[in-house]
Amino acid sequence: MDKLTQAREYIKNNSDKIILKNRDKYHFTVKLGWNNDPNGFSFFEGKYHLFYQYYPYDTKWGQMHWGHAISEDLVSFIEQEVAMAPSEDYDNDLGCFSGSAIVKDDILYAVYTGVGNNKQTQNLAHLEGNQLIKYPNNPIIDDKMLPNGYDITNFRDPYILYKNDYYYIFVGAKKLNNDASILLYKSKDLIKWQYVNIIYNRKDNNGMLECPSVAFFDDKMVLLFSPQEQKSTEIYNNQNPCSVMYVIGKMDFEKDLFTPLTPMIEIDKGFDFYAPQILTHNQNVYMIAWMNMWDKEYVSSKDGYAGKMTIVKELTLINNHLYQSFNSQLFKYQRNSEKISNIKGVYQKNFNSPILLKIALIDDNMQFVLTHLDSKEIILSYRKEDRLITLSRRLNDGIYENRFNIMTSKDIELEIFIDYNSVEIIFDKGLTSMTSNVFTYLDEYQINIESELIKYLNICYF
Ligand code: FRU
Repeated sequence: MDKLTQAREYIKNNSDKIILKNRDKYHFTVKLGWNNDPNGFSFFEGKYHLFYQYYPYDTKWGQMHWGHAISEDLVSFIEQEVAMAPSEDYDNDLGCFSGSAIVKDDILYAVYTGVGNNKQTQNLAHLEGNQLIKYPNNPIIDDKMLPNGYDITNFRDPYILYKNDYYYIFVGAKKLNNDASILLYKSKDLIKWQYVNIIYNRKDNNGMLECPSVAFFDDKMVLLFSPQEQKSTEIYNNQNPCSVMYVIGKMDFEKDLFTPLTPMIEIDKGFDFYAPQILTHNQNVYMIAWMNMWDKEYVSSKDGYAGKMTIVKELTLINNHLYQSFNSQLFKYQRNSEKISNIKGVYQKNFNSPILLKIALIDDNMQFVLTHLDSKEIILSYRKEDRLITLSRRLNDGIYENRFNIMTSKDIELEIFIDYNSVEIIFDKGLTSMTSNVFTYLDEYQINIESELIKYLNICYF
């Protein structure tokens, strides 16, 4: 039996063994098995499509398939049948790795990395019904199209876009001397590709710049990517084994040159955020990320799945700063809200469903605690003297782990979205975020905010 049929059969035969009650309401999870990166995030025939790295047979990473979900509104994603499985010599070792999608002549095309024949190559497929059909003459970009000095086993994650009559692919690659680059290829027809240039290069690193993704805002381009093993410079930067960074610059598609205007900036400082992908649709720039991290214990495995997607965020660019906000369609699902002003000292309340809190404080020490079954699951504190935010999360064994962030502004505003197993926090009007899993099922939980003065607290019920 081919691997696609096998995966589909396996899911059909095993789905009803899975307990679904412990799942998030606003974060997509696969019914069973493992998922990582979002792939092929696109809009096609009136619907949003989200593919993702998928291994149905275990809650650990395995030979990669492409899972598939469809959404009408970027909030509720409905899982579809597996769209693509390893089948050819060029993708039959480690499988069909990450990639992206584009619509051409009313057909949805996906480009992805095949791992086979001891190398990584870029391949094409198109959607027919619910299956991605591979182009017979794959690969479209093979290892021979790498410039000299690059490693054929580290060449992956094509991000495709269309500009000035050309299709472009931004793709991660690693040099034999360990530099990590993002390379640019171009094509008139999606079939014949040519190498153009190194768009971005980083020295003294051991890992790849994985999953490049791109957005345009007027004359600026944002290049988003996921460096493995990004070395930390301060306690509040690059605290995970892999990070997500962006650079804002100018892209000249005549000369095929990218000129950065900013250094690399880390977009999220939480525990679980990696490999985001951007979709630009109707001038809106959307981002979704894998809400997990490599090299850790995946607590949800006991419920038959590992991996999750973030809420879709919208990105805007103001004065060379990227701002994130929860996508506006989310608010269609808001049931009601209440706003309380000028709370002195302590605010405490119990909840039993997802909420979004919008909090504005005066510049003073603050502590936010989320308690479930008498244990403090999340403690978020702000220390006035150096504007340090500390996010502490309780692990299963009762020990806490921490992540740090520095607030830039003294107007302290936070948004905290709490789902049953997730906390997504936005700081500084969207300048940065902290995205994290909570290892519990928050059917009934309490929040407690302590601060000299809470200017206002807006609670939106979902
Ligand atoms: C990033 C990544 C990609 C690769 C995929 C494999 O999380 O390592 O570089 O394509 O996952 O599943």
